[in-house]
Amino acid sequence: MSSSSSQQGAPLAPEKRETFSSRKLFILSAVGSAVGLGNIWRFPYVAYENGGGAFLIPYLVAILCAGIPLLFLDYAVGHRYRGSAPLSYRRLNRKAEVLGWWQVLICFIIAIYYAAIIAWAAMYCWFSITKAWDKNPDGAAAFFSTDFLQTAPEAGVGFDFVGRIFVPMILVWLVTIVIMVAGVNKGISRANAVFMPLLIVMFAILVVQSVFLPGAVDGLNAFFTPDFAALKNPTVWAAAFGHIFFSLSVAFGIMVTYSSYMKRKSDLTGSGYVVAFANSGFELLAGIGVFAALGFMAHNAGTSVGEVATSGIGLAFIAFPTIVSQAPLGSVIGVLFFGSLVFAGLTSLISILEVIVAAFQDKLGWRRTPATLIVSIPVAVISLLLFPTTTGLYLLDTMDAFVNQFGILACALAIVIILGAGLGALPKLAKHLNRHSSIKLGTGWMVLVGGVGPAALGYMLINELQTKLSEQYSGYPAWFNGIFGWGMAGALLVGAVLLSLIPWSKNSKLNDPEYLQHQENVIAEEVPETAVKEY
Ligand code: ALA
Repeated sequence: MSSSSSQQGAPLAPEKRETFSSRKLFILSAVGSAVGLGNIWRFPYVAYENGGGAFLIPYLVAILCAGIPLLFLDYAVGHRYRGSAPLSYRRLNRKAEVLGWWQVLICFIIAIYYAAIIAWAAMYCWFSITKAWDKNPDGAAAFFSTDFLQTAPEAGVGFDFVGRIFVPMILVWLVTIVIMVAGVNKGISRANAVFMPLLIVMFAILVVQSVFLPGAVDGLNAFFTPDFAALKNPTVWAAAFGHIFFSLSVAFGIMVTYSSYMKRKSDLTGSGYVVAFANSGFELLAGIGVFAALGFMAHNAGTSVGEVATSGIGLAFIAFPTIVSQAPLGSVIGVLFFGSLVFAGLTSLISILEVIVAAFQDKLGWRRTPATLIVSIPVAVISLLLFPTTTGLYLLDTMDAFVNQFGILACALAIVIILGAGLGALPKLAKHLNRHSSIKLGTGWMVLVGGVGPAALGYMLINELQTKLSEQYSGYPAWFNGIFGWGMAGALLVGAVLLSLIPWSKNSKLNDPEYLQHQENVIAEEVPETAVKEY
């Protein structure tokens, strides 16, 4: 018998958990989350800093051996346990709740700097029309750091606000919060249904335009020619693994949360492959677009591709302005590129914030609108205090580097160890995936997640630890990296433990009747297959 008693007369009936109204909308939203600044802004500079073409090999290995298997793991946890990251892990095992809170805090750090880059891109859309950087005789790089970001000479924390970043950042947060308040179907799905097709069309035109620029082929050669010597460098591998998790939105709660909104009858692995290939396809296109642009810059400057772009984090914000000024129809290229960054960024920022909102909504039993406002406004305020400042770039650089390696990568390692060796949950999750998928997984998935995953991630993390300990990241002062790099990464873990110790409110979703009903169905499905072993 169904247990959905309606509680008529109660002042506030419990809010029903939303589900994506169709598989198409789930896939669109998951691709919207995956395709983000990671693909267009981050991938080209990470690839560039890690050997250019050489990076593609570890990148492909990372997708196949870790990215896709962990994506399936996230889907299995979210779809099977139907909650935000802390709730899903808690339902899997009481002790695993801390993993979910760790992911929530990782999302908090990413969200606060992510909004700043979207705001930069929005401003650069406008600058592409006015070609504002042409006024700086030292070129686009100088314009970016001196005129636009007004970067302080040394890393530190100052509250010298830069108005033309502050204002667009407020707008970014407003748009995001309005979408989030509207909920999964009216907000997240609709935003993705509008922004994603726009993004795809704009980006496709942009890439075609870029590859026909003179010199583009030199850039593409630099991108696609592997430098096998770089493969011996563990840092290159760590960068590839760290990047693929960020890019696929894996191991930091997003896919657990989104898949918890999938209907019970779903195709998990089929959807996962579509999302993973769409994401990587997009990323490679972005690499082609940016490197073609670098080739054009080098051609115009009469130099090599390796000489034209030096700055990591600003690569996209330096390479593209240069072509906007020099190429035929340059303003169109600029608007398409930076507009794509804005749309891709917004659909990802929504998903990052959803991890945080859903977590508090579940734990404290809040309704959608108050939960969104109570959670998002403080996040937005912190973001607005730290990043539209003259020291924002340093903070962003350090936080992005450390949250990837010692946040996402470390959390991924903890997940595969705890779920695999610790709780022995992989066989159960594999069965769940196979029961709800068109493409079945063999034992290979368990070997990758439970065996190869911990070994590879552990090795890379130790190497990263040694590298980061032996030198000051980006040459910043020790106290700065200590607080905003190491300190921040450590605080995420401590904060996660503390949040997991807070008792679940009596209104929380822990014993939600909807879930208990779902649980009965799951157990009914599971018994025939596990009966022989367990009883
Ligand atoms: N997956 C998102 C991105 O690539 C976070 O930017």
